[in-house]
Amino acid sequence: QVFRLEDYRESDYLIPEVTLTFQLGPAETLVTAVLKVERRQGVAVTAPLTLDGDGLVLAGLAVNGAKADATTFEASPDRLILRKTPHAARFELTIETRLSPTKNKALMGLYVSNGVFCTQCEAEGFRRITYFLDRPDVLSVYTVRIEADRKEAPLLLSNGNPVEKGALDAERHFAVWHDPHPKPSYLFALVAGDLGAVTDSFTTASGRAVDLAIYVEHGKEERAAYAMDSLKRSMRWDEERFGREYDLDVFNIVAVSDFNMGAMENKGLNVFNDKYVLADADTATDLDFANIEAIIAHEYFHNWTGNRITCRDWFQLCLKEGLTVFRDHEFSADQRSRAVKRIAEVRALRAHQFPEDQGPLAHPVRPRRFREINNFYTATVYEKGSEVVRMIRTVLGQDAFRAGMDLYFERHDGQAVTIEDFIKAFEDASGRDLAQFSLWYHQAGTPNVAIATRHDAREGTLTVEIEQSVPPTPSESRKRLMHIPLAFGLVGPDGQDMAYESAEGATVEDGVIHLRKRHHTVRFSGLKARPVLSINRGFSAPVTMAASSVAKERLFLARHDRDPYSRWQALNTLFTEALISATRRKRGGRQLAFPDELVGLAVELAGDGALEAAFRALALTLPAEADIAREIGENIDPDAIYAARMALLSTIAEAGRGDFAGLHASLHDNAPFAPDAAGAGRRALRNALIEYMALAAGDPGPAREQFDTADNMTERAAALTVLAHHFPKHGDSREALARLEAQYRDNPLVLDKWFQIQAMIPSSDTVELMRELMGHAHFSLTNPNRVRALIGTFAMANQTAFHSADGSGYRLVADTVMALEKHNPQVSARLATAFRSWRSLESGRREHARLVLADMAQRKNLSRDLADIVERTLA
Ligand code: ARG
Ligand code: ZN
Repeated sequence: QVFRLEDYRESDYLIPEVTLTFQLGPAETLVTAVLKVERRQGVAVTAPLTLDGDGLVLAGLAVNGAKADATTFEASPDRLILRKTPHAARFELTIETRLSPTKNKALMGLYVSNGVFCTQCEAEGFRRITYFLDRPDVLSVYTVRIEADRKEAPLLLSNGNPVEKGALDAERHFAVWHDPHPKPSYLFALVAGDLGAVTDSFTTASGRAVDLAIYVEHGKEERAAYAMDSLKRSMRWDEERFGREYDLDVFNIVAVSDFNMGAMENKGLNVFNDKYVLADADTATDLDFANIEAIIAHEYFHNWTGNRITCRDWFQLCLKEGLTVFRDHEFSADQRSRAVKRIAEVRALRAHQFPEDQGPLAHPVRPRRFREINNFYTATVYEKGSEVVRMIRTVLGQDAFRAGMDLYFERHDGQAVTIEDFIKAFEDASGRDLAQFSLWYHQAGTPNVAIATRHDAREGTLTVEIEQSVPPTPSESRKRLMHIPLAFGLVGPDGQDMAYESAEGATVEDGVIHLRKRHHTVRFSGLKARPVLSINRGFSAPVTMAASSVAKERLFLARHDRDPYSRWQALNTLFTEALISATRRKRGGRQLAFPDELVGLAVELAGDGALEAAFRALALTLPAEADIAREIGENIDPDAIYAARMALLSTIAEAGRGDFAGLHASLHDNAPFAPDAAGAGRRALRNALIEYMALAAGDPGPAREQFDTADNMTERAAALTVLAHHFPKHGDSREALARLEAQYRDNPLVLDKWFQIQAMIPSSDTVELMRELMGHAHFSLTNPNRVRALIGTFAMANQTAFHSADGSGYRLVADTVMALEKHNPQVSARLATAFRSWRSLESGRREHARLVLADMAQRKNLSRDLADIVERTLA
């Protein structure tokens, strides 16, 4: 079954109020749902009421308090249809369902994670709890009563504010929660268990006192301190930057160890993958800290962008996700280094969204059809969705953007709305027409912008030829022209931006060229010297670029552009071009060599104390193998790419031989670890250097030394990665791996890193090692973090081994996909997306991948999730 946007219809019935009672037991839970149902005005009394279910067993049904007559309804696991409803427009349904939480390994609906009852309802998990109008445009006020064994579950939580609690008998107790804000069912949550707490408080700008709590496993409370700090900073920031205040008396966060995604924004009760809550110097890396800060903020920000204003239907997912990602990006940029944050965002977008947009799974930011909505929690909806909001700000300017956001909040508070409503708020607030711009939501594919420049010294002009094209994507062969905002600067010989007298040929305002036609010839005049064009500054538009500019100009920008993003971009493009040509030479059996100037520049930037350390680390970070593959685009040979990249690493290592060790030592922090941006930057640079130092030394010594002496996981994990990846057979590497394993046997998050590092070893032996690790006592197919750490990492981040020429990497992943599919289709389908770029491989690998995909496609009883991914990937 395919769901289509154009088939949207308002529901005939609404459910303004819900009272849920949970009699919790791990093996059996009884759910009683009392629904106040309302027939919408104008709907015929004969209209049937069809409630969604998913694998449900109906244990009882009453209408207005009287047991329902069996001839008036039909119940199946996935539907409850009332053929005949009472005459009155309002009536009450009482529905009883029986669940088995411990048996729920799909981690959707009500399940048990490590002894803790918890729920995940987005997108369509509520229907695994009770029959309901499980769609985001049905908003209800919830009252929830939870009854449970006191020992098993001293803690009983749901959405909203606590109302009442007490004893039932010697063993059991109860709690009642009430959420005054009408919400869709996907925001419902319940947690019950025995957990420790970190508590704090926050007073909102208007004076509301909010009790904050983060619940974690006993003994892990201290590791939640950074999450709590991030939460308070998020709450303040949303007030200051968006004028958004919190609206309940409590805000609770619970960390669980089995979770399909990152976290979930349930009203007043966020549930998190514990990976994004727990951190300390000894067990978490700087990246973990940054992720925690970002995700805590993301879920908190959903309170306004997602909860107060929600989606009319799931096609509008980007309405809340793209916007909320944009908000969490801005938050992190304000908390840390804006430039470094932006570079990280762009790297992530290129690594995850571009391959999606350029392959068989491409879809618009706002899709028009889906078979399984869980497969649309994608980089396109989230990350490109955020880029689109960012472009709205670029197009309108900061003030009009803020006015548009204010209008959106004011106009739609309490509603379930669409992307059209969102755009309209900006149009109305700014008086601008965003019709062409809105194609960014509707049209899939990464636009390409081709640029050529011509300088005329006598006339003092720079002519810029710009052409846009949008490649065809599945089911959209013809594309319309987009409105592409390109931030730019004309960089003068002294490195400063040059002034110009006039610009003709396109709208050029506030340092932005607005492309609207296929082709623009933009002429800048009144130039006193020859400028170098710096274009798409700050990555103002998520496009690919084909620029005719020469290496000399790129080197100049990498040294002098005042926009740090563009400096990095220039350097990165130079690296990419060098690596592509080295890959070609490798396949042609020729000698590999790299431009001295480029290699020298990398070494120079690494040592430039005037730059932020984090930026210098990025200057030493070569494009990943997958980045190079994506740029090559077709007939890809991962082994040749690996060889080319290794050769460049070694060349830089050699060139930096005299400088790197001293620099590495000078960056050592004597003060104890603190997870701030400056410290993280120094560690990032040290970690980049240690790889080059080990390569220059030709032995694991330097990395071993860092591994042995580091007082934090950031430096330890990086050292271990160098050991395992560059010296996999060396005794030092084996010993270091064994030590980490022994030391953190009881810490699943560190053990995940241990699995992850090994899954990335670039060797043909890794497939065999993977089979061994899958047999490890601590490997489990039911814990998504463990599966992602080992198999996900292998499939997404180990180009040489996943793409083993004999197809063994593909088979390993496909076997895992099929094994997972039986109990957790969502995680299985996500893993299967690793095959999305199969058509761009060289013919041998392409054929292996095709066979593996075809084999999966013909299996019987595939889940909707997996069938959807596999069929679209093959199509
Ligand atoms: N809304 C959550 C977030 O981004 C993601 C939940 C996705 N869950 C799912 N089952 N697809 O913050
Ligand atoms: Zn989100």
